[in-house]
Amino acid sequence: MTSIDTPPNATHELLRSHRSIRKFVAEPLSHERVSHIVRSGLSAATSSNLQATTVIRVTDPDKRAAIAEVAGGQRYIETAGAFLVWCADLDRTRRACAMGGGHMTSGMTEQFIIATVDVALAAQNAVIAAESEGLGICYIGAIRNNPQVVADLLELPDHVYPVFGLCIGVPTQDPEVKPRLPVEVVLKENTYSAEGEADLIAAYDETLREYYRTRTGNNKVSCWTEEMARLTEGERRPHMRAFLADRGFEMR
Ligand SMILES: Cc1cc2nc3c(=O)[nH]c(=O)nc-3n(C[C@H](O)[C@H](O)[C@H](O)COP(=O)(O)O)c2cc1C
Repeated sequence: MTSIDTPPNATHELLRSHRSIRKFVAEPLSHERVSHIVRSGLSAATSSNLQATTVIRVTDPDKRAAIAEVAGGQRYIETAGAFLVWCADLDRTRRACAMGGGHMTSGMTEQFIIATVDVALAAQNAVIAAESEGLGICYIGAIRNNPQVVADLLELPDHVYPVFGLCIGVPTQDPEVKPRLPVEVVLKENTYSAEGEADLIAAYDETLREYYRTRTGNNKVSCWTEEMARLTEGERRPHMRAFLADRGFEMR
């Protein structure tokens, strides 16, 4: 029997070789190349064929610098071959609805979930397409540090919100793959049970501690549970609820 850590084919192998890239050749990717990548992203499944995704490629250097500031100074936002902002877009849905002779009821939590999931699936498909070409990527959730600035810069209408940014480009670094939780922790059968999980997580802590200690850049003394404790202690981006409500995602 082959080990669960042995990818059964080239697609699995590609997926398991993912690592975020934060250093890029500072050359723009061609419009055609980015279009191909986004086009493949759009083939992801989409809830009820809603296709609630809009992608804004930001090429204006001033806008990229402003977004990098919002994101806490992540400079690769400015240098990557392409920087895309992936938006959950219910405004196109609203317009389509009007064209079809209807009137969209907005503000439902379900619509927010559908649109956000649609964006994530399309983006991740695009990521795989890009990685299959040897390009590197880094998602940028930190645009939500100040999503209003990003919405203003990109002139987003109501019912559209920026979910995350995405850097894509030719990598100039070759970082190690970050180990994930064992599949045994994540994959359950029939019911939710955390039985036996603590030992596996403790073992994963040691794996990740070793990864952080020995990786080629940004070494640190930490492990998964310590990272989770640090990340979840305080309230993160508490402005999101009011921001979303203001854009028409009232969450009824
Ligand atoms: C939605 C999302 C937002 C992210 N935001 C950032 C970010 O703002 N900056 C960054 O450097 N990495 C960001 N990341 C990358 C994660 O930190 C990274 O995927 C995770 O640590 C696992 O590492 P790996 O991608 O190298 O396997 C983000 C990832 C996701 C999925």
